[in-house]
Amino acid sequence: MKILACNFKNKLTLPEINNYIKELPDLNIPSLELILIPSLPYLSEFMELPYSLGTQDISSFMDKTITGEITGEQLKSLNVSYVMVGHSERRLYKNEINIDFINKINHAKENDLKVIYCIGESLEAKENGDTYMVLEKQISEVLNNVNIKDIIIAYEPVWAIGSGKTPTKEEISETVEFIKDIIEEKYDTRIKVLYGGSINVDNIEVINKIKNLDGFLVGGACLDSNNVKAMLLKLML
Ligand code: PGA
Repeated sequence: MKILACNFKNKLTLPEINNYIKELPDLNIPSLELILIPSLPYLSEFMELPYSLGTQDISSFMDKTITGEITGEQLKSLNVSYVMVGHSERRLYKNEINIDFINKINHAKENDLKVIYCIGESLEAKENGDTYMVLEKQISEVLNNVNIKDIIIAYEPVWAIGSGKTPTKEEISETVEFIKDIIEEKYDTRIKVLYGGSINVDNIEVINKIKNLDGFLVGGACLDSNNVKAMLLKLML
């Protein structure tokens, strides 16, 4: 089943969210899973919709009382089924590191939540030819310490996020294969890999032709529900 995961980041106000929900396509396509990942305060607005619901964060502390945090139990009660962990903006601006990702993934799994673990190289790493080394490190330093079951990888080159630039179809294809192969080698399981970074209505169809790619994690282009509909239709082709 192909996945379209929509990362709203910190965008849209409550009235905008309500409009968005009204305009959401009424498309229930059995071969596609739409995962909506709004900001935390809006999760309850989405909980009755016939789509999967994801969250952009979960507390790294499982059993502590902490102001401002959200627990797996609370997320479960909001019908959330996916937790996004390791997004490059959280690595960069919130200084999140491997131990945070490990704790967050373990917390999610303790509550039967699936995980979308985001990895990706910086422009500097790409230019130095270090992409695979960086990805392997991001994978093993975190996944060696968690249960790999129900983890999806989102491959998002940092330089492609919000920039209008994407790797070539061939580069994405090779990298997806690399990720799947090393995970199979290390953990004896074949997992799903999504691509993210400047995906839009115009380029999704071509990139979707990549064999072995299981779907997309989309930011900016998902903020318009018409684009979501257009992208879903293109994924059906
Ligand atoms: P973008 O963001 O689609 O706006 O590049 C993707 C993401 O950050 O998940």
